[in-house]
Amino acid sequence: MVNSSFYVKFIKLIYSTKILTFSLKKGRFYCKSPGLMDEYKFLAPLYDPLLHAVMHRVRRKVVDVVENLPHQSIIDICCGTGNQLKYLKRAGFSEITGVDISRSMLGQARKGRDKVTCDEQDASMMHFKDNSFEVGIISFALHEKPEQVARQIISEAQRVVHPRGHLILVDYLFKGHVRLPARMTIHMVERIAGKEHYKYFKQYLIYGGMDHFMDASALKKEYRFHANATAIRVYAMNKYGQYA
Ligand SMILES: C[S@@+](CC[C@H](N)C(=O)[O-])C[C@H]1O[C@@H](n2cnc3c(N)ncnc32)[C@H](O)[C@@H]1O
Repeated sequence: MVNSSFYVKFIKLIYSTKILTFSLKKGRFYCKSPGLMDEYKFLAPLYDPLLHAVMHRVRRKVVDVVENLPHQSIIDICCGTGNQLKYLKRAGFSEITGVDISRSMLGQARKGRDKVTCDEQDASMMHFKDNSFEVGIISFALHEKPEQVARQIISEAQRVVHPRGHLILVDYLFKGHVRLPARMTIHMVERIAGKEHYKYFKQYLIYGGMDHFMDASALKKEYRFHANATAIRVYAMNKYGQYA
């Protein structure tokens, strides 16, 4: 039997997260709009341990890719827990920074032996000057955003990355043959991430993922993971001076 103190503790816990708020005016508890919440509040401490097995190879490959680029001041846009930046730091890169909108994710990035410098900023309107970095990375952020926001984040990345620099996009790209178990697992993970999240993920797949935003003639290299469902793509300006 669950006694009443359990319910009191449970309500206190939810209330302390600020999801549930008491309105004196309305005389009742109400839920804050999801738009105002830090979506990653609960997931932040679990994000790296849960995803380590699937992310490890991708993170290592991004480090490899960056090691082979001539330019080395790096920004990770929507850096989350800073996990990719930590891999880069361990590989010896020092001019690295990240931005993210979630305080909880940034809290993780600023923790631990390899803690990294990162800033709370909206990636769709960053505070950096034009051409501030030589490499920009956006990983696993575009698929969870409405199309217009994803476009805005890419266009900001293009603004802050130097024209002679590189843009690295890491995300789902269901192109060609993707085996059913991989497809189903990814759908399941994205559904668990939340209803809104899943809605944008499905839209992202329908409009064709990265292909929808980027000019193929700017694509320099592509690497595939997770039964071909995840791509690391490296873009450099094409001869018309465009990434997209
Ligand atoms: C799925 S996580 C990916 C994190 C990290 N890039 C990685 O590869 O693990 C998406 C991240 O994008 C961040 N994000 C979403 N919208 C953002 C925005 N407008 N500005 C900055 N960060 C944003 C979220 O807070 C979250 O940390």
